[in-house]
Amino acid sequence: MATKVYIVYYSTYGHVERLAKEIKKGAESVEGVEAKLWQVPETLSDEILSKMGGPPKSDVPIITPNELVEADGILFGFPTRFGMMAAQFKAFIDSTGGLWRTQALAGKPAGIFYSTGSQGGGQETTPLTAITQLTHHGMIFVPIGYTFGAGMFEMGEIKGGSPYGAGTYAGDGSRQPSDLELAQAFHQGKYIAGITKKLKTSAA
Ligand SMILES: Cc1cc2nc3c(=O)[nH]c(=O)nc-3n(C[C@H](O)[C@H](O)[C@H](O)COP(=O)(O)O)c2cc1C
Repeated sequence: MATKVYIVYYSTYGHVERLAKEIKKGAESVEGVEAKLWQVPETLSDEILSKMGGPPKSDVPIITPNELVEADGILFGFPTRFGMMAAQFKAFIDSTGGLWRTQALAGKPAGIFYSTGSQGGGQETTPLTAITQLTHHGMIFVPIGYTFGAGMFEMGEIKGGSPYGAGTYAGDGSRQPSDLELAQAFHQGKYIAGITKKLKTSAA
């Protein structure tokens, strides 16, 4: 049976979504892994979103909490707001109380990816503060550490991401994920899919 990896994200302006798509490609590069993209529900009205300059949502399906249980491993992605996950994602996590009560997600590997506007804006605090939610669910946080290799030490160009996971800088919104950031996202997808597959196989 295929190993299922879900990539569950929120994105207002598309940066996190771009990373999510690359993570999916990386996860699918692992033989026997099926990866699926999901968005979490928006909490803002269309009026507010249009005032914020957000584009219309893509057609990636909206997940419901119980669908998380189907996954063998999950990657969670969000833009930062004041150095931590956007409220839309927190609202979704807050709707998983039933899963927490039964510990339905316990033992599943989980990765985190993110976008910030600026350097120093939360590339490390955003994933770090999200580990509390994984912990309460009993999920196994899988950082990428320095497994991405030389790209982790890039000093010649601006590069988001960290040992916690893939990341990008949106800047004023016009900056798009760089090739190196996308390569790190691909790596994260492949890395976590590989670990998810190993865990699933060893449990069988
Ligand atoms: C209310 C609000 C708070 C934000 N707070 C931060 C912040 O603390 N640090 C930062 O670097 N960027 C901050 N940003 C910028 C977002 O992180 C940026 O828009 C996002 O990374 C883009 O990702 P997306 O295109 O997937 O929505 C904030 C944006 C908003 C709207």
